Order: sequence, then structure tokens, then C-alpha cells
Amino acid sequence: MLDDLDFHTAKALLDWQIELGADEALLDAPVNRFEVTDSAPKSAPPVTAAVPSEAALVPEVDPVDAARQMAAAADSIEALRAAMEAYPHCDLKMSAKQLVFADGVPGARVMIVGEAPGREEDLQGKPFVGPAGQLLDKMLAAINLDRTKNVYITNMLPWRPPQNADPTQTQLDMMRPFVERHIVLAGPDVLVLMGNAACQGLLGRRGIMRMRGQWEEVLGRPALPMFHPAFLLRQPIMKREAWADLLALQARLKGQP
Ligand code: URA
Repeated sequence: MLDDLDFHTAKALLDWQIELGADEALLDAPVNRFEVTDSAPKSAPPVTAAVPSEAALVPEVDPVDAARQMAAAADSIEALRAAMEAYPHCDLKMSAKQLVFADGVPGARVMIVGEAPGREEDLQGKPFVGPAGQLLDKMLAAINLDRTKNVYITNMLPWRPPQNADPTQTQLDMMRPFVERHIVLAGPDVLVLMGNAACQGLLGRRGIMRMRGQWEEVLGRPALPMFHPAFLLRQPIMKREAWADLLALQARLKGQP
């Protein structure tokens, strides 16, 4: 089939696979894991009833409880990063290249919470460095904010979901204790919740079309839901609302209600 493709079509197909997250060749030929039924070596001895399986020896853990305990034990931002690196219960960790923890200035007055890393963020290990991040930087610059000086940035999920899938409720629930601890340790005056996932994760509800621009409270701090810059890239007409929200953020930072 490849013989029939011209160079540009073949390259576009490869780019598409990379965009979906298939950016490494592990074997010469693909394996359909859904069709592999008998993965045990043929010569493996039968498991006897007297020997409990490894799974039976691992105590049942509630992933949200485990996250709460690990997050609460972290007494600094670096300790929190280490706790998240060590957290074993989120399936996204298996497919992501690395943890994407935060960028910017911890302790800044403004803390932005986004959704999850995309491809660029997964490669670089920093949040909002791809196209949406570039737009975010321009939006911040419009009200004299700058991640190298006075903004701190993180995401609800620190690992890239395969194919940039929407975060699931289970994933948001298990990472929420870490994000909440992150907020407490960073101590911002104001939070910006970028998009539905951040609203779902920290406020427990979504509906960004209605929620944007309406101040909420998270852990006793004012929190402003805003359109996600990735959405604004797809719907530039909505930048007008985003501009109004940026002005509201600026006014809040200047001490106006
Ligand atoms: N979108 C997000 O929500 N976070 C990132 O870090 C990148 C894109």
C-alpha cells in the first residue's frame, strides 16, 4: 500500500500517528493486544492453591485516599513533585513520557490551572508550551502578566492522556488532592481555572460557557473560570469574552472587586 502513496501523503499519515501519540517504534510489526489471549509462557508451571498470586498479596488501596495521604505529607513544592512522581495509581503515568508538574514562579499572585499536558508539554516536561501555551502567554502579556515573573502554572493532570483524550472523572478525582495541596503550597491570591476540566476538577462542575467570567472560590481563594486557550484557537470569535475575563482578573489584582 505504501508504494501507492506519494511522499506528502505518507508524511501526513506519519505526522498524524505522531499527533495521536504513536511516536516510538517498539517492535518491527504491530501487535494487536486485544487479540493476544494467552500471554503466559507455555512452560509455566500451574499456579497451586497453596501459593497466593502476587495480586492477592498487594493490599487493596483507594487511589483517592492514597493521593490525599501523599499530598498531605508534602510540606514543600519540591516534596509535592516527588510525591506525584511516586504516585502509582494513575494509568496515564504508563503512557506519558514524563511528569509535567508546573512552570513559572511559585508564590506568584496568579496561579493558572489547566487541563492536562499535550504532546509538546509531554516532550518538554512543562505545562502550556505548545500552541495553546503560546496563546496563553500572549493573553497574560496583554495584562502585564508573565510566567517568568509573576504567574505560576499547573494542570489538573500531570501526565498526558493518550491522544489528548478528555480527563476522566476518576483521573480528576485522584489528582485533585495533589492540585489542592499545590495551591496551598504555592499560596496564590487568585486562581484562574482554564476550561472545563479545571472547573470539574476543583469546583465539581462544568459548563464553561456559563461559568466563564463568574468568580468562584477554591480553598478560600477567588477563582476565575475562563475559556481554555486551546478552545480560543479553535473559536477565535470567543476571544472577546476572554478579553473581558482578563480585564476582570486585572481589576481583581488591583484590588477592585
Ligand atoms: N492544555 C492544557 O490544559 N495544559 C497544558 O499544559 C497544555 C495544553
